[in-house]
Amino acid sequence: MIYQVYVRSFADGDGDGTGDLAGVRARLPYLAELGVDALWFTPWYLSPMKDGGYDVADYRVIDPAFGTLAEAEKLIAEALQLGIRTIVDIVPNHVSDQHAWFRAALRGGPERELFHFRPGRGADGELPPNNWRSQFGGPAWTRLADGSWYLHLFAPEQPDLDWSHPAVRQEHEDILRFWLERGVAGVRIDSAALLVKDPALPDFTEGRDPHPYVDRDELHDVYRAWRAIADEYGAVFVGEVWLPDTERFARYLRPDELHTAFNFSFLTCPWDAGRLRRSIDETLAEHAPVGAPATWVLCNHDVTRTVTRYGREDTGFDFATKAFGTPTDLALGTRRARAAALLSLALPGAVYVYQGEELGLPEAEIPLDRIEDPMHFRSGGTDPGRDGCRVPLPWTAGAPHAGFGGEPWLPQPEGWPAYAADLQARDPGSMLSLYREAIRLRPALGDGPLTWLPAAEGVLAFRRSDGICLVNLAGTPVTLPAHSGLLLASGPLDADGRLPEDTAVWLRA
Ligand code: GLC
Repeated sequence: MIYQVYVRSFADGDGDGTGDLAGVRARLPYLAELGVDALWFTPWYLSPMKDGGYDVADYRVIDPAFGTLAEAEKLIAEALQLGIRTIVDIVPNHVSDQHAWFRAALRGGPERELFHFRPGRGADGELPPNNWRSQFGGPAWTRLADGSWYLHLFAPEQPDLDWSHPAVRQEHEDILRFWLERGVAGVRIDSAALLVKDPALPDFTEGRDPHPYVDRDELHDVYRAWRAIADEYGAVFVGEVWLPDTERFARYLRPDELHTAFNFSFLTCPWDAGRLRRSIDETLAEHAPVGAPATWVLCNHDVTRTVTRYGREDTGFDFATKAFGTPTDLALGTRRARAAALLSLALPGAVYVYQGEELGLPEAEIPLDRIEDPMHFRSGGTDPGRDGCRVPLPWTAGAPHAGFGGEPWLPQPEGWPAYAADLQARDPGSMLSLYREAIRLRPALGDGPLTWLPAAEGVLAFRRSDGICLVNLAGTPVTLPAHSGLLLASGPLDADGRLPEDTAVWLRA
């Protein structure tokens, strides 16, 4: 199991209200007890934090709010002593506008060639060079005082690099080596399918193939070069590849490219047996020919928290439909999230757990005047943004700020202390206890391939070599199949020993 640490919100060691490396180091025993195999750290590098650290000013410096490089090295070593490996996050599509290259480019240096600067269209160049939209809303171009425009697929503070330039490639290979030399075991690649642009920067036209900046063939050369470097160190990649086309997705996982990529089909899938089964089947089918392990993800720092999503009428995830004030049944969502935890941990492959999921944290509604996420602002204020899943964690129910540290950079909602890790650790019925048990018992299911078992409509039932996982998404309780023992259930069975709705169970075969 790989645990995602959003450093800023994990634990605050120095009491300034921002999570930091000292906080993570102090909580390593908690992570070891949970049973994590590796930690993926969202960017911890020097950053003006215009996009939560995905705007990197210097890859070789830890942001002072988080700590120092020496501390990061200690953290990597201490984690390893507990059997926990480290995955860093590299953001190759863009840098911060405070990065030395962009600053030099603004001064008119040759570094301009490392970005996409273009004159505008229209009589006075007052129109952007093309019609591309930022992923956060609004145009993907910003005009400078000298009249030129530069490309940013995300916020204006995140200028896109020009991947046709050899210096851009060289620099990223050096950055990879910099972190691999420091003992990291893996690298998460941010926005991995967006790096390469059509050099002509043509207008985007719906449906035209190839896309001017998504999933361009030239990308595969970049990752082949990276793979050779990873192989020198025995490290692995996980790509952030959002692509609906499974065949195109699988190309990133060819044996000489990325080892793994996030499974967004599973993450976005509604709580529906048929849809989930299809997503699982498609995932396994697309991974099989390339021999790559599948990944299973329910949540991350960009999407709605699982207990909230599953407690809504629309249980899938889509950036486009996020809205303020969506009615949510948290008790229902929590029951489903417990079942989904057992489902994902029973599937063949690697499971990613986003910090706080093991506590069953809900998505928070952040007061308008405290929202920081550019996605909110660039949507014109209609999108609540992603801060609601980034609220600082509750550790100790009785402590100020629920034991996070100083006054948190994002406010914790009322009721947050009830989710505190210390309370949950003492409660055998808590989400934390369920995750701990499931991770401990997971090997008992065996490592074999997944085989579906006959099951009633609305029920997912499959076998691994030594165990069975059954998830009931139908409206009525179901009888358990033949088994030799009950390993773990996400909720109580009914009086007749049947599995109720929205409940999962692991059985010894
Ligand atoms: C990825 C990250 C997200 C970030 C974006 C731009 O999607 O997960 O948090 O805003 O890339 O770097």
